[in-house]
Amino acid sequence: MIKHDNIERSLPLMVVMIVIALSWGGMVEIVPLFFHEDTTEAVEGLEPYTALQLEGRDIYIREGCHVCHTQMVRPFRAETERYGPYSVSGESVYEHPFLWGSKRTGPDLARVGGRYSDEWHRAHLYNPRDVVPESIMPSYPWLFEDKVDGRLTPKKMEALRIVGVPYTDEDIEGAKDAVDGKPEIEALVAYLQHLGTVITKR
Ligand code: HEC
Repeated sequence: MIKHDNIERSLPLMVVMIVIALSWGGMVEIVPLFFHEDTTEAVEGLEPYTALQLEGRDIYIREGCHVCHTQMVRPFRAETERYGPYSVSGESVYEHPFLWGSKRTGPDLARVGGRYSDEWHRAHLYNPRDVVPESIMPSYPWLFEDKVDGRLTPKKMEALRIVGVPYTDEDIEGAKDAVDGKPEIEALVAYLQHLGTVITKR
């Protein structure tokens, strides 16, 4: 029998016991989530990203947008008043990797889809200060010149299918033609306009 007194007097034993206690506590909180319907099932109406939106998402990651923008509306009054309905896990089941983020230099973007016109986004991404004079967001003029290279798009979709995103063979076959040679800005705006639109009210 290990007495509490002995644990407190032995640093290595104390460390081992703390690790065991924390691991157990973590497991009972986290493991059930892997089996809970609310956290593993897609919300009604959720579709995988189209090829163009998917490429837009990769541009979003490449440009580091997620470093300044979260995509997670928390269930607090101040957040839901400003951004819209709070985020739920079922909206993120096709996200690999998820882009919830933790740092808000700019506003949350989880529900930005449909809030502005495509033209607004284009102007804003070309030079944020043209539409929001006090903005500290960087400009992204190269997105208007660089073109999407569609050669890898079908492969990305195949990889996502392996981890459970329900892409059909037709989706994958048509993917290269759907994106190849399009300006990157088009893909990024398609992605932004889709964000958070599956759940519009709660
Ligand atoms: C250095 C931090 C920073 C980075 C990086 C950044 N943003 Fe921003 N973003 C901001 C700030 C600050 C604002 C608020 C001012 C404004 O609207 O320009 C903002 C605003 C926005 C808005 C308007 C949101 C709203 O609800 O009004 C969108 C959309 C947006 N950013 C998209 C992007 C995209 C896409 C990228 C990557 C290509 C990006 N941002 C990169 C800081 C950043």
